[in-house]
Amino acid sequence: MATVEPLPSQAAPGAALHGADLLAWRSCLLALGGRPDAFDWLLDLGGGLRWRDLQALRLDPERTVLLERPLAELEALWQRHRRDAEPLQYLVGLCPWRDLELQVAPGVLIPRQETELLVDLAVALMPSDGFGEASALHWADLGTGSGCLAVALARAFPGRRGWAVDASDEALRQARLNLAAAAVLPAVTLRQGDWWQPLRPCWGKLVLVVSNPPYIPSATVQQLEPVVRRHEPLAALDGGVDGLDSIRRIAAEASQALAPGGLLLLEHHHDQSAAVGQLLRAAGLTDLQVHRDLEGVPRFASARRPPLAEESR
Ligand SMILES: C[S@@+](CC[C@H](N)C(=O)[O-])C[C@H]1O[C@@H](n2cnc3c(N)ncnc32)[C@H](O)[C@@H]1O
Repeated sequence: MATVEPLPSQAAPGAALHGADLLAWRSCLLALGGRPDAFDWLLDLGGGLRWRDLQALRLDPERTVLLERPLAELEALWQRHRRDAEPLQYLVGLCPWRDLELQVAPGVLIPRQETELLVDLAVALMPSDGFGEASALHWADLGTGSGCLAVALARAFPGRRGWAVDASDEALRQARLNLAAAAVLPAVTLRQGDWWQPLRPCWGKLVLVVSNPPYIPSATVQQLEPVVRRHEPLAALDGGVDGLDSIRRIAAEASQALAPGGLLLLEHHHDQSAAVGQLLRAAGLTDLQVHRDLEGVPRFASARRPPLAEESR
């Protein structure tokens, strides 16, 4: 891939840069290919040049800007993204998600926009007295990855105890960093292990459990874009032949692990709504609801363990 001559004024981060030079450098690199929105994302998260500042620069190229990284370094990241399809989020180590700026690294799934809705659903479906008076009732995030959902739930339910579970060392390391950065770590306990298993001591006390498990059918994983298939962890994506291996496992133990009346909220693939509903019903859960994403596609399911009075009928 051809390179663009680095500009002498950007020998060091924080060096002042003439706006017209920056715009010319951007145009030269984009002329070699690549998506302008991705490039501007890199300038924003990697260089600290917000989108609105870039627009202001277009209107007035005589302005001077300060970037957080030298142009040569940004250019090298861009070339890696273009050459090896490395996700920009891994290259800059950051991913904006809801109102958070999460740290991400290879080995942990990059949080997706649709997953943001799980937090809104959890808040909407959780009754205001759902945790009761006692602090004995908890929430949990199964398959926490970067900890995105755990951070958001800890902030949505301050003072409530939560659990973040993952099988992967790297995910737990990253989740700990993000929970600590959001100053919610004291309320959340991280546990390594297989879905509900590490939470056995608090089975029956979990009033809210969210999970975005791996749900992509194995054959579909092979067809994903290289930026995902080659770099994101397979264990976070691959849900087995029909994509439902993890959801089957989570559903199977839900009615023992949830508190009576407790809510399970899952994300799933775009074509799994009926199958997930069947699995949740077969596991003895009730009050099944289907939830759609912003495009109207059913992507989430919620269901409850029946309250004790109903279970004993
Ligand atoms: C789709 S990712 C979701 C990550 C994060 N919650 C999010 O929404 O971005 C699924 C996560 O489940 C974890 N996982 C896979 N198998 C697991 C298992 N048997 N028990 C616990 N976690 C598991 C993966 O390591 C991965 O972090």
